[in-house]
Amino acid sequence: MTGTLVFYSEFDDFDQWKRLLQREIPSLDVQHANAVTAPEKVHYALVWKPPENFFQHWPNLELVINLGAGVDALVDRPDLSDIPVTRLSDPNMARMMAGYVLFAVLRYARDIPFFEQMQKQARWQYRHPRAAEEIRVGVMGLGELGGKTAQELARQGFSVAGWSRTAKEIESVEGHHGMASLESFLSRTDILVIMLPSTPDTRGLMNDQHLAMLPHGASLINVSRGDIVDEPALIAHLSSGQIGAATLDVFAHEPLPDSHPFWAMENVLITPHLASVALPSSAVKQVAANIHRVRDKQPPLHCVDLNRGY
Ligand code: NDP
Ligand code: OXD
Repeated sequence: MTGTLVFYSEFDDFDQWKRLLQREIPSLDVQHANAVTAPEKVHYALVWKPPENFFQHWPNLELVINLGAGVDALVDRPDLSDIPVTRLSDPNMARMMAGYVLFAVLRYARDIPFFEQMQKQARWQYRHPRAAEEIRVGVMGLGELGGKTAQELARQGFSVAGWSRTAKEIESVEGHHGMASLESFLSRTDILVIMLPSTPDTRGLMNDQHLAMLPHGASLINVSRGDIVDEPALIAHLSSGQIGAATLDVFAHEPLPDSHPFWAMENVLITPHLASVALPSSAVKQVAANIHRVRDKQPPLHCVDLNRGY
């Protein structure tokens, strides 16, 4: 027996994960958190946003597998002791994210919101398309998902720059890093894509002052975490035209409250936090490999640093 894996997620399909995991590791006992009868046998946890004190129930836990990329829900938790925490690191998840961002960038690059407005008025209004290389896209965060997205945008011919904490070299992507280069990065960016983790350094980073550094009329796409953007400041800039349009997949409070001003803004496209999701059929191999590694007393792969926040 490999031991028990406890599962918790309000978004992911337990039965599917159980079936796929047991196909990879027949000796693994996979239990939903609500149904565990022998907590001392739990060695592994596969979780997305577990509730407060969740981890204190499993005294022999050896590995926490985050059912996603961002681990902000696992940071600063008194119930989580010093055991390895891994994230999903799945090329298919990165491809799904790159696809969403490409859609959102192309929508602005090809003036689709303008044509949607014209269609509502039954107006045949020609607007000459711009060449991709004339459009400057900036990707904040060049990690597993951000790096792949920046590459994909460059492949489409956009003039792409990236911004990260440490220097990165990605072919055809102009690298910027650190706070000292934030203004030069933002001021050259027509379409900003936010792909940063939520950490003490990034929360509220896109505030009034930094939004004002973008060229007038720039578009903003946020696919990482809502709290990186100061929402009242964004609303003010969207109203004044400093920010021309926004595509928002993530929000400071999710679900986005019914009364939130974003719902009524014509220049905002809202999607309910699904730019990319955990894909059991491809991610299961990585999850199973890490369970095998921990069982064999090997360090797991794709660990995150909870002190750093990603
Ligand atoms: P990674 O953890 O792989 O990479 C994070 C990147 O952000 C790195 O390039 C890092 O720089 C950079 N970064 C972190 N802190 C700073 C900082 N203070 N200043 C500048 N750069 C910084 O993240 P992923 O690419 O895998 O994912 C990004 C985020 O996307 C996740 O954290 C998650 O919140 C979100 N997400 C959203 C989904 C959705 O459906 N909307 C789905 C999946 C993820 P460096 O490498 O130099 O340290
Ligand atoms: C993630 C997410 O971080 O889906 O994986 O938001």
